[in-house]
Amino acid sequence: MSGGIAAYKIPELIRLLVKQGAEVRVTVTRHALEFVTELTLQTVSGHKVYSDVFGAINEHATEHISLPEWADIMIVAPATANVLGKFAAGIADDALTTTFSSCAARKPIVLAPAMNDKMWENPATQNAIRTLRSWQGIHVIEPAEGVLACGTSGKGRMPEVEVLAEQVKAALSKKTMQGKRVLITAGATIEKIDPVRYISNFSTGKMGYAIARECLRRGAEVTLISGKTQLTIEGYEGLQKTDIESAQEMFEASREAFASADIAIFTAAVADYSPAKPATEKIKRQEENTTLLLHANTDIAGELSRSKRIGQTTIGFALETNDEEANAQKKLQKKGLDYIVMNSLQDKGAGFGVDTNKVTLYGINGIKKDSPLESKEAVSRWLLDALGY
Ligand code: CTP
Repeated sequence: MSGGIAAYKIPELIRLLVKQGAEVRVTVTRHALEFVTELTLQTVSGHKVYSDVFGAINEHATEHISLPEWADIMIVAPATANVLGKFAAGIADDALTTTFSSCAARKPIVLAPAMNDKMWENPATQNAIRTLRSWQGIHVIEPAEGVLACGTSGKGRMPEVEVLAEQVKAALSKKTMQGKRVLITAGATIEKIDPVRYISNFSTGKMGYAIARECLRRGAEVTLISGKTQLTIEGYEGLQKTDIESAQEMFEASREAFASADIAIFTAAVADYSPAKPATEKIKRQEENTTLLLHANTDIAGELSRSKRIGQTTIGFALETNDEEANAQKKLQKKGLDYIVMNSLQDKGAGFGVDTNKVTLYGINGIKKDSPLESKEAVSRWLLDALGY
């Protein structure tokens, strides 16, 4: 940590990383401790803070050497204009800059610049960023735009801690999908009945977003066609996201992206039907029963899969409640998919809405693999591994 106002968010980042299974050690500049106390950092990380090169409290003799030795990755957040300049120039005159200096050639480093927009635009800062970006193993997170501590609005905000934690994971992932273009459909579609009502389903989009993240971490370029969901995904240069509402819109956006995709993963819960004639004005209540005429929507996975060219791989999902294997196999054949990932609602902790999942992967080549019951994040890792990505 260096000394910027965004430092107040770092105890939360440490907690998040620890919650996700990481062990965290903290090194700071003297100025960082003007914003957050050493006691807070020590409490959330569970370790003494390395703040003083000549201090007597060090756990090891030369922490600026032993910390990078011990760590898998270093994240500097917030990274002020001052420390970025020092990093780029090779200046090492305190706990943080000496640690960075001995880490730079050895371990991956994520930098999260945060400062006033004028300082971000300063040619010295931009030079330092350019230099650091050219070093191998260094990833600089682009600051976000928005209201800054000084009250003005501009570029320079540190992204939210969830985005930082995500970038740490991405930097640690092997880039096994570099150069691959992946189309992913996710979430629920909305089929309008009138301006205030619609037909939809309970899909949350969690599985699709988890797969999109894992593909991005592995270096793929991802086009995410997203229906209704509460989820967000940001901070990735390789991501292109298109928000849609209806099945028809999802089909059109997917068809366009499919043309240049190597892999298509259809996780969306697409409505099979939509109102034949959505009303342009609110439908009034009547005492009698009423009928809504529904038209069948295009089967996106089926339509695109059947038109795939050599070299394209398509993967569908199947949510089944009964005769699971037979139904999944039937869908695999009928839609012309290469693989289908089957969710059984018979399995506790699998399927809609929950954070965990358990799936079976079937391939047109005859393979059948069962995943363990794990978080959707872990299942998406399992799935890409099982597919050989
Ligand atoms: N799918 C699609 N477009 C549709 C319907 C489904 O792309 N209009 C995709 C889903 O994203 C999923 C797969 O097809 O990858 C299977 O979805 P599912 O709803 O289980 O199958 P359906 O074909 O709708 O069959 P059914 O509802 O009868 O089980």
